Amino acid sequence: MAKVKKAYFCKNCGFEAPKWLGKCPACGEWNSFTEEIIAKENGSVPAAVAGVSSSRPQRVKDIRQSDRRRLDLGNAEINRVLGGGMVAGSLILLGGEPGIGKSTLSLQIALSPNGLKTLYVSGEESPEQIKMRAERIGIANDDCVVYSETLLENIIAQINELQPDLVVIDSIQTIYTDLIESSAGSVSQIRECAATLLKYAKSSGTSIFIIGHITKEGNIAGPKILEHIVDVVLQFEGDSNNIYRILRGIKNRFGATFEIGVFEMLDSGLREVDNPSAILLTHYDEPLSGISVGASVDGIRPYLIEVQALVSNAAYGTPQRNATGYDTRRMNMLLAVLEKRVGMKMFTKDVFLNFAGGFRVSDTGLDLAIAAAVISSYFDRPLREGLCCAGEIGLSGEVRPAPRTEQRIAEAARLGFKKIVVSGYMPKTTKTVKGIEIVRISSIQQLPRVLFTEE
Ligand code: TYD
Ligand code: MG
Repeated sequence: MAKVKKAYFCKNCGFEAPKWLGKCPACGEWNSFTEEIIAKENGSVPAAVAGVSSSRPQRVKDIRQSDRRRLDLGNAEINRVLGGGMVAGSLILLGGEPGIGKSTLSLQIALSPNGLKTLYVSGEESPEQIKMRAERIGIANDDCVVYSETLLENIIAQINELQPDLVVIDSIQTIYTDLIESSAGSVSQIRECAATLLKYAKSSGTSIFIIGHITKEGNIAGPKILEHIVDVVLQFEGDSNNIYRILRGIKNRFGATFEIGVFEMLDSGLREVDNPSAILLTHYDEPLSGISVGASVDGIRPYLIEVQALVSNAAYGTPQRNATGYDTRRMNMLLAVLEKRVGMKMFTKDVFLNFAGGFRVSDTGLDLAIAAAVISSYFDRPLREGLCCAGEIGLSGEVRPAPRTEQRIAEAARLGFKKIVVSGYMPKTTKTVKGIEIVRISSIQQLPRVLFTEE
């Protein structure tokens, strides 16, 4: 008989304690303990203690690598973020805020013509609801099976019977195991279910994709331990008022995490955006002031983005400074540099800053483009056509090279830009690209001149 017992778990890190604690000794979080009723099977002796060990230590050079097969998920953006497809037998966690499109994305993977036998398990929606969604997306995989269930033991029994290549579990917060008494979504349930799924994936070679909700604070709901258990953590982000979504790798045991995938949410599901610059640049009938283009890099992917600034006379004593999708402190720093080094009277001005597509950016290589947009709006003069910028600005007004400047230049040239302003401190050996003129400046004072002067 299983013995019923209570335990206390830290909501932040999953630390287990026999009594309630005000502060977690493991992660230092205050007031994070919750009581959960758990029932543990007693009497089982761990295999290693019983003397039945399944593996032995071995020399690295003697380890034979089994074929790390990667599954093509039928979606170029996700394949790229994963580093060339999903490794067979791996466990992936997809996190994101409610309504961002996690269910849509994962159902789309299950339904895409990738030649995989897929099982989509939903603890949130009925088969009819899933069918409605599937019809919007388009059913291109006849081997996709849908299952509405929340009990982990039943789900595993079905996986055993169907033997799919890929299983999607929507979501980890709704499933529960019979081994533990606490309710679905509690720390102990999430921890136990994820650990069971990981063991199952490793032993059977089935690839499992689990969806996790994100809390208000931006963490994946449930313990941090969930992120430690899984092989790959992907985050789906975006502004729900906007149609663009970004898929970002946060952890990847089989590859790098610097790639991003860009999607557009349409009536018929998520569309891959293979050329993000095309949606982030607008073509205006006539040149407008306050608009500049920055050559940016997210991870290793270069793209061009439109920066918009509005500088107007402050109506009240303290000027307003407002940035959407950008760190206001960094914007204030750039404005202070413009004030001190270029002599612009920013203290009497309200400044608003915005990026195309509702994108959030943190690339310091966009400093020059932001300064250019502010200068253009301040003087109310449009920048010359076909110009973009890539460079970081220091506190003394020096212009420093942006990381991966060569890639930024190449992307700007590919999109038909005629001039790119970069740091004068770039090595002289920087590759030049045909069709684009590279303008080097070493201090911010030189910026206004290159932005407007006609040849
Ligand atoms: P959903 O995948 O349910 O989000 P999550 O699982 O992350 O909570 O997606 C929710 C939103 O996506 C919903 O508000 C409607 C929108 N949507 C579309 O715009 N087009 C579509 O084809 C689908 C299926 C959803
Ligand atoms: Mg959902």
